[in-house]
Amino acid sequence: MKILVCGKGGSGKSTVTALLAKSMADKGYNVLVVDSDESNFGLHRQLGLELPEDFMNFLGGKKTLIEKMMGAMKKGEKPELFEENWNIADIPRPYVATNGNIKMVSVGKIHDFGEGCACPMGALAKHFLKNISTGSRDFVLVDTEAGVEHFGRGVEEGCDLILMVLDPSYESIRLSEKVAELCDRAGKKLHFIFNKVDGSGRTAMLGAVGEERVLSIIPPSDELFQAGLAGREFEVFLPEIEFIVGSLISGESS
Ligand SMILES: Nc1ncnc2c1ncn2[C@@H]1O[C@H](COP(=O)(O)OP(=O)(O)O)[C@@H](O)[C@H]1O
Ligand SMILES: [Mg+2]
Repeated sequence: MKILVCGKGGSGKSTVTALLAKSMADKGYNVLVVDSDESNFGLHRQLGLELPEDFMNFLGGKKTLIEKMMGAMKKGEKPELFEENWNIADIPRPYVATNGNIKMVSVGKIHDFGEGCACPMGALAKHFLKNISTGSRDFVLVDTEAGVEHFGRGVEEGCDLILMVLDPSYESIRLSEKVAELCDRAGKKLHFIFNKVDGSGRTAMLGAVGEERVLSIIPPSDELFQAGLAGREFEVFLPEIEFIVGSLISGESS
């Protein structure tokens, strides 16, 4: 199953992605984490990994990729970036980092000031996801950049399910309406995960977005915050994460 994790900046997308990956891997599933947020530099640490080489370089780098895409567009064709379909195990080194059952690919990072638009990375993420085949013991988790731009680039097309992380904020509530609309239009199943939410925030958030799509409510965790701050590999057990993984495995939420 391929799952896209989205939400506003700072809501906890990367944190939730890393926690889900760890829990799935502990249960013996093969997990591929796709980091499609070009300005995200913490996720690999939470997974206990070195940052792999940008996957963009596999296709010759950003300039070559743009040329390929433009060339195809001019001819009215869809760009063919991959020659054959891949399983998770087929991703070539050094574009994949491995820690036990967890693998990670980083689509591409912005390394220099003025590198320009991240659109080719979005396009690459879309093609990469469509090209990966998953079996019943595989999960692909896509950590996205903040907001909904990745929807515009079609990154969700190759995914089976969307998880939106909401922190207790007005922005998250507003964005959830937009994401729900986009998912309905794209025919994608959507669940909300409240994060850093408890007490009166919980009541207010449930009142604002309704209960129907809410899969789990993760409270603020000092242990998680400290591990994130220190760039430490996550060794945090959260019953809420176990619940999410359990319902994904049983198929109840997919
Ligand atoms: N449940 C939580 N409890 C405490 N801190 C959290 C929790 N979830 C995330 N954080 C912290 O919130 C900040 C933003 O999280 P992050 O996962 O980087 O967000 P995003 O990827 O959406 O931008 C980080 O400092 C992280 O450690
Ligand atoms: Mg992030």
